Amino acid sequence: MLNNKVEAILNVQVQKEDYSSQLYLAMASWAENQGFSGVAEWLYAQAEEERMHMLKIVRYINERDGNAEIPGLEQPPKEFENLPSLFDAVLKHERYISGSINEIVAVCMDEKDYTTHNWIQWFVQEQIEEEASVKDIIDKLRLVGDKNLYMFDRDILGMRGNESSGA
Ligand code: FEO
Repeated sequence: MLNNKVEAILNVQVQKEDYSSQLYLAMASWAENQGFSGVAEWLYAQAEEERMHMLKIVRYINERDGNAEIPGLEQPPKEFENLPSLFDAVLKHERYISGSINEIVAVCMDEKDYTTHNWIQWFVQEQIEEEASVKDIIDKLRLVGDKNLYMFDRDILGMRGNESSGA
């Protein structure tokens, strides 16, 4: 049986992963309409990955005899200024998510839930990879500058690396 505090914080994380998926979907749609099809593909794939993260937590809560709460949709922003500020926003959001995963680790320790502590390590590792891959993109964007965005857009699909599906 899942500890109540652990169940509650995991349900908060379900909302956050769901919002991450919506946010990246909104970004993907914006990028597609700006003509950045490579960036859009990257963001569509990222939105799918966030949905897998959300499902992974939902299924874990239920598997441990808890009750997963399915959140309503929260409206993400519709407009983004440009690619550099969009990816800065992705990195900021991923750092925020890493912080909340760390809070889950802390609650697991406080509540002596070593099973969930062990399970959540997958997310700890995933956040290291997600932050690193967005930082790589930001570095590359800085290198190519405004004049070569076409090239950047073409190259970004090769920058997804060996990310895990999260399923
Ligand atoms: Fe599910 Fe990108 O954190």
